[in-house]
Amino acid sequence: MDRPTEASPAVVHDPEAFRAACDRARAGGRRVALVPTMGALHEGHLALMNEARRRVGPGGLVAVSVFVNPTQFGPAEDFSRYPRELDADVARCASVGVDLVFAPSAASMYPAGDQTRVRVGALAAPMCGVTRPVHFEGVATIVTRLFALAGPCVAVFGRKDFQQLRVIARLARDLFLPVEVVGLPTVREADGLALSSRNRYLSPADRARATAIPAALRAARALYAQGERGTMALLDVVSRGLAGSVDGVDYIELRDADELSIPGTPLPDDARAVLAVAVKIGATRLIDNTVLGEPDVTLD
Ligand code: PAJ
Repeated sequence: MDRPTEASPAVVHDPEAFRAACDRARAGGRRVALVPTMGALHEGHLALMNEARRRVGPGGLVAVSVFVNPTQFGPAEDFSRYPRELDADVARCASVGVDLVFAPSAASMYPAGDQTRVRVGALAAPMCGVTRPVHFEGVATIVTRLFALAGPCVAVFGRKDFQQLRVIARLARDLFLPVEVVGLPTVREADGLALSSRNRYLSPADRARATAIPAALRAARALYAQGERGTMALLDVVSRGLAGSVDGVDYIELRDADELSIPGTPLPDDARAVLAVAVKIGATRLIDNTVLGEPDVTLD
């Protein structure tokens, strides 16, 4: 569907209408960019949309999907209370010149008789895969469906969800999907907290405690910059930085940034190792990460 005015994206709910809009754009010589989201859009999402526009140019089609995907939530997770605010999200998309918003129903993405799931192997097993065993299968399945509908495109994701980005890049590669998967740096609040749709669950006191997360990652970066290469010492500084501020630690992990395998210690000089954490503050689960061995414009 073509953009009716500069300011307001077309909104389609039907998967086949979304496919047709992307096909039509390509037939007219436009490139297509897709930004998959679950809505409750914030500046982190908008940064992905701006990059999507940069990639396809002013004449390209920038499409944003807004869908709270049921299959990626565990039974005890926040699916039912996840914020849903499509009108506000469409307005946010308009503010950065998005052309098309795809907001399907669960019944249209998972029609009766649906029985196909996409499962990525070792990349999905550790870290978030341990406490959220169905999560990445749900993510991989919905993202594959979105890619199938969008067709050849560039798809833009955030590095805040580092493991998710690795899983999606791998499924696109393994399934020969005609999609270029792009990952962007984490957008943070002024005090360093990574923007997340879940931050709104935090009380003011919990929000204040959450700054321990970026502070702990910064402490590890500082130690690494001083020459520390022992993985235990690097993990330990994060754990000490979080202690007293968070209510629970799901994991603190240091992993190879490409394969998410456990690196040897000391880290080799050419290592790129992702330091990733998942913690509970109150009832809210927050994740964050930084890659040691490469600059982090958002934390340095
Ligand atoms: P959602 O949490 O809405 O995130 C959508 C995209 O925004 C993801 O690529 C995520 O990494 C990115 N993002 C979130 N916070 C960010 C931040 N602070 N800085 C930069 N990017 C950020 O991730 C999902 O939805 C879903 O799992 C999805 C991929 C849409 C599949 O359902």
